Amino acid sequence: MFIDTHCHLEDENFAADRAEAIARAETAGVERIINFGSTMQSSIAVAELAKKFSGLYAGVGIHPEEIDDFDENTCARLADLAAHEKVVAIGEIGLDYHWEKDSARRLVQQRIFVEQLDLARQMHLPVCVHDRDAHGDTLKILQTEARDLRGVLHCYSGSLETAREVWKLGWLIGVDGPLTFKNSAKVPEVVKAAPRDMILIETDAPYLAPVPYRGKRNEPAYVVEVAKKLAEVRGETLEEVAAYTAANAMRLYDIFQKCTDAASG
Ligand code: NI
Repeated sequence: MFIDTHCHLEDENFAADRAEAIARAETAGVERIINFGSTMQSSIAVAELAKKFSGLYAGVGIHPEEIDDFDENTCARLADLAAHEKVVAIGEIGLDYHWEKDSARRLVQQRIFVEQLDLARQMHLPVCVHDRDAHGDTLKILQTEARDLRGVLHCYSGSLETAREVWKLGWLIGVDGPLTFKNSAKVPEVVKAAPRDMILIETDAPYLAPVPYRGKRNEPAYVVEVAKKLAEVRGETLEEVAAYTAANAMRLYDIFQKCTDAASG
């Protein structure tokens, strides 16, 4: 079994064939999918999707590029959503300095990131972090504000040195399409060195489709391509990669527990 631990099936790119994309994922062996919100509206949408489809779970949060969507009521509204048993994470939250060059607004990103880490702590939920071109500040915040939390740096794009600090905190890294790209020198180096229990696979669909679908719309079924590349880079079998990445995802997001709870009513 594969688990796509990060995607955005609520995205309008899936408006015409969302159920078909979920069915294609199941056919490919991708039995569980975790969708993440980036605004209040998309957080509501992913929580609704998780209620509707048995293999779907959700994370709720405000993305660093969407900080204008954050106000004094946001954390309370996210907490209401997160109370549902199929909402298994707070995310995606974090820092994005690639698109944000203004230092005052970067500070606002940091404050909103920390507030949502506090929410994760209150809700006893793991965290899915977006870090783009903000590796130093992201690590600093994890080290000072999130020592007692569990989580993943999704779509990991930092150095091996930073990854080692992340692993020291007990946090995982999420690997997706860029691992399969020819110009991704850093990512293979990082995944080769990663302890088995520190890696998740994901698509970030509809973005970042892996080779051989690069440039097309991504979808959860393609997480198998990420797993194949991971197996190749690490010298493992596809079955091994499927087994330990699924186990890592179930452990981090407590999915196994929630399935058992649901089955027992
Ligand atoms: Ni994402």
